[in-house]
Amino acid sequence: MAEIPAITIEKLTKEYRLGLRGFVVRAVDDLSLSVPTNSVFGLLGPNGSGKSTTIKAILGLIRPTRGSLQIFGSSSSSIVSRQRVGYLPERPDFYQFLTGRELIHFYGKLSGLADVRLEERTNEVLHQVNLVDAADRSLSTYSKGMLQRIGLAQAIVHDPDLVILDEPTAGVDPLGAEAMADIILALKAAGKTVLLCSHHLSQVEQLCDSVAILYKGRCLVQGPLEELLERNAAGSIRIPHWSPEVEQQALEALKAAGIPVEGVRMDRGSLEALFLEHARKGGRDR
Ligand SMILES: Nc1ncnc2c1ncn2[C@@H]1O[C@H](COP(=O)(O)OP(=O)(O)O)[C@@H](O)[C@H]1O
Ligand SMILES: [Mg+2]
Repeated sequence: MAEIPAITIEKLTKEYRLGLRGFVVRAVDDLSLSVPTNSVFGLLGPNGSGKSTTIKAILGLIRPTRGSLQIFGSSSSSIVSRQRVGYLPERPDFYQFLTGRELIHFYGKLSGLADVRLEERTNEVLHQVNLVDAADRSLSTYSKGMLQRIGLAQAIVHDPDLVILDEPTAGVDPLGAEAMADIILALKAAGKTVLLCSHHLSQVEQLCDSVAILYKGRCLVQGPLEELLERNAAGSIRIPHWSPEVEQQALEALKAAGIPVEGVRMDRGSLEALFLEHARKGGRDR
């Protein structure tokens, strides 16, 4: 039997009605997708394409206009499925006067943890996001990267199986983004499923097993990343000693073999290669 996906979305449409005249914005338009368990899934698309709306529908925070959503096979509005999910919102607005530890305590309690287990999990997640040293400082002293990491810690304190991160590295410097990526990979290694929205495409490419690209609420393309990228793969052949005659011969040989050629490019040498070539020669002469 095939494993039940972590998230199943079938024909989700979400419309917002604006103003008294009832002007309708279709934020998500007939979206279907499935996120396998123990994978990292990237929900991509320009601003306003419906990513956050999709996430809120998955979390049961907004009601779909049409369509159905399931988390681990049960309706996403059921209490049981919600307990299995952790969420870092797009613009978390935590109480600045709390310390990191107090914040994690607070969210841990909200999700039903108590006593020894609450203490244990608080320490574990602070360690996991590398904020043990800053745990007893107020959030007002945290950098953007630290705030995103404490936000992630709050999302995983109850040890959910599905973690949903809405732009976790927005405004975070490259080192902070790398730290976030490491934590996401550790979650996957621990068997969790992660859904993330991000504009940080080089990081998405490294982290995600599958992606979907949304545009104006519609899904343009989705699937396993490897498959999607291979569709546009092109081969190149490198010829070391180039001359117009060699190029002509190579093109004729490819043509004779029936291999289509899209373009020919001459690679200039690099300054580094030129420098090394001469420096090595100079070294030998001396
Ligand atoms: N509460 C709301 N009321 C009205 N329109 C909304 C609301 N939330 C989002 N929208 C609109 O829905 C579209 C999708 O928004 P959103 O899901 O936030 O996109 P993304 O997260 O991809 O940037 C946008 O046009 C946005 O203006
Ligand atoms: Mg958004």
